[in-house]
Amino acid sequence: MERPDDLLSISDIADQLPSILARAAALKRLRAGGRSPTPLRGRTVAMIFEKPSTRTRTSFEVGVHDLGGRALFLSSNDLQLGRGETIADTARVLSRYVDGIVYRAFRHADEVELARWATVPVINALDDLEHPCQIVADLLTMRERWRGKFRGHRLAWIGDGNNVLHSLLLGIAAVGGDLVAATPPAYAPRPEIVAAAQALARRSGAKIELVHDPAEAARDADALYTDVWVSMGDEAESAARHVAFRGYQINDRLVGTAAPDAFVLHDLPAHRGEEITDEVLDGPRAAVWDQAENRLHAQKAILERLLPRRRR
Ligand code: CP
Ligand code: NVA
Repeated sequence: MERPDDLLSISDIADQLPSILARAAALKRLRAGGRSPTPLRGRTVAMIFEKPSTRTRTSFEVGVHDLGGRALFLSSNDLQLGRGETIADTARVLSRYVDGIVYRAFRHADEVELARWATVPVINALDDLEHPCQIVADLLTMRERWRGKFRGHRLAWIGDGNNVLHSLLLGIAAVGGDLVAATPPAYAPRPEIVAAAQALARRSGAKIELVHDPAEAARDADALYTDVWVSMGDEAESAARHVAFRGYQINDRLVGTAAPDAFVLHDLPAHRGEEITDEVLDGPRAAVWDQAENRLHAQKAILERLLPRRRR
C-alpha cells in the first residue's frame, strides 16, 4: 500500500483510513498481550509543540517508545524557532537528524511550510485548521462501539466549528458515516472544509448536515461529540464565545433525546459545566476515556504507516 508523505489533513489518508483503523485495533490487541511490534527500532521522532498538550504529547511519546523508537520533545520556546529561526531552516536541520516530525502549531500554514522543507514525514498534532490524529482515535472508538460499521450510524456534533470538527467532517465523510453538526451561526465550519467533506461523502455515501439547533442534531443520534468553546489561540474571543455557545452543552437532558444506547465523545481537555456537564462526563454514556486511550493505538498505526520510509 502506498504511504502518504505527510499527515497534515485527515484527507491525506482518506483512502487509507479503513486499513489504518484495522491496524490500530490490531496494535491495541497486541499491546494488551505484551507483543507490540518494534518497526521504529533505531529511529527518532522529533515533536515540536507550540501549545500545551497532555494526551497528544504523552500518547506520541509512549507510542514511539512502544514501536521501538525514540521521541524527542521540543518545545518551540526552547528551539531557536522561538527566537526567529525560520521554519524552513528548522525543517532542513531536523531532517538531518530524525526520521519524522510531529508538529503542534498555531497556524496551519506553518505545518505546510514545515512539510515543504522537511525531507522526513510531518504529522500534524493539531493546528488552527485540523486535528487529524485525534479523529483517527475517534473513528477507532466509534468503530469499536458500532462493531466496525459506520454506515447507518449518525454522530451529532454540538459546539464550535473548529479544528476538531473540520477533521471530523472529513474523516466521517471518508468512512461513510453520517454527521450532523450544530454550531452557532457565527462559528460554522469553514466552507472549503465542508465542500471537501461533501466531495468525499459523494464517494463514500456519507451524509453531512450542518444545522444550528443542538436539539435537532442530537435527536435519535447514535453518538454525541463536543469540544471546548474556546480553543487554544482563541482566548481573546473568550467573552463573546461564552455568550454565543450558551445552550451548546451536552447534558443529561440532551443525551436523553439521543438513541437509547448513544455514547458521548469529547477530545478533552473538558471545561466541565460549559460544553459538557459533570453528570455526562462521569456517567455511563461517556466513551471519552476509551477515546483518550485510543489516541495511543491510533498514533502507533499512523507512525507505522508514515515513518519507515525517508521522503526525499
Ligand atoms: N485531545 C488533545 O489533543 O488533547 P491534548 O491537547 O492534551 O493533547
Ligand atoms: N479545539 C481544541 C482542541 C484541544 C485538543 C483546541 O484547539 O484547543
